[in-house]
Amino acid sequence: MLKVLVCVSGGGTNLQAIIDAVADGKITNAQIVRVISNNRNAYALERAKGAGIDAVCVSPKDYDDREKFNMALLQAINEKEPDLIVLAGFLVVLPEQIIHEYRNRIINIHPSLIPSFCGKGFYGLKVHEEALKKGVKVTGATVHFVDEGTDTGQIILQKAVYVEEGDTPEVLQKRVMEQAEWELLPKAIDMIANNKITSVIN
Ligand code: GRF
Repeated sequence: MLKVLVCVSGGGTNLQAIIDAVADGKITNAQIVRVISNNRNAYALERAKGAGIDAVCVSPKDYDDREKFNMALLQAINEKEPDLIVLAGFLVVLPEQIIHEYRNRIINIHPSLIPSFCGKGFYGLKVHEEALKKGVKVTGATVHFVDEGTDTGQIILQKAVYVEEGDTPEVLQKRVMEQAEWELLPKAIDMIANNKITSVIN
């Protein structure tokens, strides 16, 4: 049974997709053991509690400095001894120590077809604003392993989504979430839980 720990910062629609996929059997051999948010007001925490999942807030605001926050975050992760850490709209830069301790066991969902519209500063609506500004006809989402870079780890899954005439960033974001993110992240977790993915980076 793969022990999955999900890190969130916002509404938690990707977390909800994972919860629902476990409940309806689209994800097998996996259990969400904890949800961690850096934002105490994240609705994602309510979603976790509603599903009876251990939900904790580790907020930088509660610590004197970044190092103390990093240590608290690492402790909140290690306590559950997860096999896989899933970043589902998590807006905190993971400390290198966590990436080292969980190398090839951290995945992230990014709302574009990496290597387009990714890297520092590309998160949330900004990704879709830039895609629309560029005039791309196709965008999408990517699930990738997390390494020391920003959105630079090995790509696991991608799905394309068409941009439509008159799209606003909000409308496009919703379509990418509905048609790609909420499908890809559960699928990647199920593949890892059932040994259908091996990281080629050793
Ligand atoms: C969204 O912008 C999504 O595209 C990205 O993270 C943000 C929050 O998603 N993956 P969620 O509703 O908190 O899962």
